[in-house]
Amino acid sequence: MSNEPIAVSGGLRTNAEQVEASRNRALFESNPSSWETKLENFPKYVRRQNLTRFLALYEIFKLIQPVKGSIIECGVNHGFGTMSWAKFSAILEPVNLMRRVYGFDTFEGFPGVSEKDRSATSQHVKEGDLAADVHDELTQLVDIYDSTRFIGHVNKVKLVRGDATKTIPTFVEENPHLLVSLLYLDFDLYEPTKVALEHFLPRMPKGAVVAFDELDNPLWPGETLAMLETHAKRPLRIERLDFDPYIGFAILD
Ligand SMILES: C[S@@+](CC[C@H](N)C(=O)[O-])C[C@H]1O[C@@H](n2cnc3c(N)ncnc32)[C@H](O)[C@@H]1O
Repeated sequence: MSNEPIAVSGGLRTNAEQVEASRNRALFESNPSSWETKLENFPKYVRRQNLTRFLALYEIFKLIQPVKGSIIECGVNHGFGTMSWAKFSAILEPVNLMRRVYGFDTFEGFPGVSEKDRSATSQHVKEGDLAADVHDELTQLVDIYDSTRFIGHVNKVKLVRGDATKTIPTFVEENPHLLVSLLYLDFDLYEPTKVALEHFLPRMPKGAVVAFDELDNPLWPGETLAMLETHAKRPLRIERLDFDPYIGFAILD
């Protein structure tokens, strides 16, 4: 099989990467073991890139573990990040009942796309993209997660549904106690990222982490533009993990 790279949505995937998921799926489906056995052996089937992401989130979580405050996941989508933070907290700091994980999403995809999200390489982006109608599923999964963890009767995860440009200001007003140890920005777009930075940054102590998923990414110019506007007022030293190409993060000083 040729391994020559081909363009996919402005990125590059080799032919082998194009067929990787379907090859894994065929083997997953033909294995007669129970779904539980297969999930318990997830590294067999999960793509290296997804494991990389999980490990990257783990490294970010360890940075904020000694910092007071809750975790804000901006853009829940199917729940990878939200449930990763929740499980890291349950594993690594089971008595930290005060750390909450707040996940913001429409659960209907992008409510709109602004001119700042447009460039020659991002023309494909449109309203409704990345819709993941999983609010109810995630609510039930959180209930199961609570049922088996230490101090599980105290809520850990809260999903905030709706357009974040509206829900974030209301949320902050209704939660005057809020302190943020990790602001994980993964809306992909300018406007909600800008609103999140404006409302949550003032609530982040020194040592807290603001992380961005799409900086310097030609497909998503809006997130970088929102970061730069914040950076002009409060300069951020944007770092990266040595094994992950996507996440940029700053430890606040
Ligand atoms: C890249 S996905 C998030 C991925 C997620 N962090 C994960 O771990 O898999 C971007 C999400 O942002 C959401 N989103 C974008 N703009 C939004 C807005 N204004 N309000 C609420 N959600 C928004 C989309 O619905 C989408 O689910």
